[in-house]
Amino acid sequence: MLPRLSIVLVALLCVAQSGAAQSAIRALPETRQWYLDAGDSTYVIGVNEQHMLQSLYWGPALPKDALLPAAQSAPGRASFDPSIGTTSLEYPAWGAGLFTEASLKVDSPNGDRTLVLVYDSAKVADDTLEVVLRDKVQPLRVHLYYKPYPEGILARWSRIENVGKQPFIIEQAASAVWNLPAETDYDLSWLTGQWGSEWQFHTEPIADGSRVIESRRGSTGHQANPWFAIGRTSQTTEVSGPVWFGELGWSGSWRMTVESTAQHRVRVTSGWNPFDFSWTLAPGASLDTPKFYAGYTAKGQGEASRILHRFQLAELLPTHPDPKPRPVIYNSWEATEFAVNEAGQMALADRAASLGVERFVVDDGWFGQRLTDKAGLGDWYVNKEKFPHGLKPLIDHVHSLGMDFGLWVEPEMVNPDSDLYRAHPDWAMHFPDRQRSEQRNQLVLNLAKPEVKAYVFNFLDKLVSENDIAFLKWDYNRNWSEPGWPDAPGASSGNQNIAAQKEIYVRYIQNLYDILAKLRAKHPKLEIESCSGGGGRVDLGILRYTDEVWPSDNTDALDRLTLQDGFTHAYTPETMAAWVTDVPNFLNHRVIPLQFRFLVAMQGALGIGGNLNKWTPEEIQLATHLTAFYKSIRTTVQHGKLYRLRRPQTQEATDVEYVAQDGSQAVLFSYLHSQQYGMAQPRVRLQGLNPEAMYRLHPLDPAKYKGDVTISGALLMGDGVSIRLQGDYDSTAIALERVGESH
Ligand code: DGJ
Repeated sequence: MLPRLSIVLVALLCVAQSGAAQSAIRALPETRQWYLDAGDSTYVIGVNEQHMLQSLYWGPALPKDALLPAAQSAPGRASFDPSIGTTSLEYPAWGAGLFTEASLKVDSPNGDRTLVLVYDSAKVADDTLEVVLRDKVQPLRVHLYYKPYPEGILARWSRIENVGKQPFIIEQAASAVWNLPAETDYDLSWLTGQWGSEWQFHTEPIADGSRVIESRRGSTGHQANPWFAIGRTSQTTEVSGPVWFGELGWSGSWRMTVESTAQHRVRVTSGWNPFDFSWTLAPGASLDTPKFYAGYTAKGQGEASRILHRFQLAELLPTHPDPKPRPVIYNSWEATEFAVNEAGQMALADRAASLGVERFVVDDGWFGQRLTDKAGLGDWYVNKEKFPHGLKPLIDHVHSLGMDFGLWVEPEMVNPDSDLYRAHPDWAMHFPDRQRSEQRNQLVLNLAKPEVKAYVFNFLDKLVSENDIAFLKWDYNRNWSEPGWPDAPGASSGNQNIAAQKEIYVRYIQNLYDILAKLRAKHPKLEIESCSGGGGRVDLGILRYTDEVWPSDNTDALDRLTLQDGFTHAYTPETMAAWVTDVPNFLNHRVIPLQFRFLVAMQGALGIGGNLNKWTPEEIQLATHLTAFYKSIRTTVQHGKLYRLRRPQTQEATDVEYVAQDGSQAVLFSYLHSQQYGMAQPRVRLQGLNPEAMYRLHPLDPAKYKGDVTISGALLMGDGVSIRLQGDYDSTAIALERVGESH
């Protein structure tokens, strides 16, 4: 344990060194309190008279010299709810009569299945506060980490450490618990979905009991996303009011429990999903849980997402703090599916380049005996019938057109009809004697096995070393069904073997992250997209290693408005790949004009996925014009501040605005879904501009805008602009350029 004086000195040093007044840790050893400032918020924890670490404050930034009363445990409720469950503990382990959600549940070597964690020590290093808790009896320590970021995010995670001489079995381990202030009128917002309809946004009052949002699928999943936002029913809107929000950085099975206790206290606990999970913690070993990022704002749901976007760009994405804007890509999946070949792809590349596309991506079908989805996964050699001279002639051709080259892979999967599976059937996850359930004719490779990990890394490394590949679209097209690992190391038979097998949920993802990290380190220019049949693997864990994601296979532009609205509550538009595809759309058979499709895809990283061989000269001309327009505003879209002026849930129309971080540019997108009763569109009032500045308006369609060319920020935000949209699926955009001060 550090002497008290050094705690203060280290803490002061930390404040001084970070140089960012908004991101600092203040330690008060006398009162055993820690103040963590992140952006415009403060989080405070303290040790109470029972020596337990509890949450004291989470809300607007406190003054630098603020001092809260010393931590005090809450009284129990009669003889039924002991204080351990009524107090807002930072990391409550199961024990001493805890009936609320436990952060940690462990079997100790002597058969004790409970823990009671008390304060041991604390220190600050690398801008991170570490508080160590220890069990009152067992040789087990829990390290809690707190890292505040100036963008307004506090990252929390835990480390469980065995300091004894015999193994512990961990049954459940959360990253962190977030305790909300003692109020009773909270609303929870969360995201759910399924293939083709990810990112559905819900808001509902929090009632006593628990809402569990989770994935048991082995990966993040389409069904829900590890994100939450909690507002006050009476106060919070898109533009104002308090929001406590957060997201878990984990790409495997996860669980988030939003709980209102019997005493009506609201908490959010998240980490690995304890379902079917187990981890044997050997003597001297420790285990780190994933990071759980959270923030607070007083400025509504819109500001909560802007904080997350800034944080992801500045602190989290692989190329932070300054990620490059995403290139405009072409991908032929919807146009050709598996029928890729050298001549066909070259012809599409010619057309794509003429539109202004900057990256040409060959999707599924280029390898092994991959004529359909029935065969070939696992055999990562170039198919000689389709590409007789390998990929080089196509890549050279793409380069000669001024584009770089990307390639689809699905490294974690295998078709039973493949050389890989014939050689290594035991590499697929399985239970002995039980049928292996196929989905899309494929099985999941057990990436937890060292030999599988090595195979995947080596084939990717070879592929990227031998070909000039700038980008991998990394796909993952099913979830787990038989997560067996019969030869898991550590134990050969019986219950111990089963316990070892259950580590697959964590070891698989750790290996996935290792492969991605190693690949990027060896090929620093390589960029990667995380795709899982659309948006099945989007989270802040994978986004530390991937530059973008494919949010959905649903490319219907009307549906996309809703999907993108949900997506951008949690993730920055920089990461949101969005394609313009052909109509009638394959999913809804809806026919939407090309401009609307383009303007919807421009809300993130624009891509084109239609069959360009079939586009008319007029469509090519419009597409070229719109691609050029996108390039003129894409940095503002991808790195700017997003304002949801009218959300698609209103059914009739959607307005979205982006403002550049430096305020020099803004762009407004307006979409009319379906006009009713011949009604004119209401004026659109902009947000986030400087009221004192003048802006020059550059309408994409001059006929659809009526108003002055140069307008002050005050008028644009107060009085708004008049946009004339008519009929079904009409759309337009206006770029605004800041030209000086208003007088
Ligand atoms: C699912 C992806 O989401 C699609 O974009 C496409 O890459 C297919 N897989 C290819 O099999």
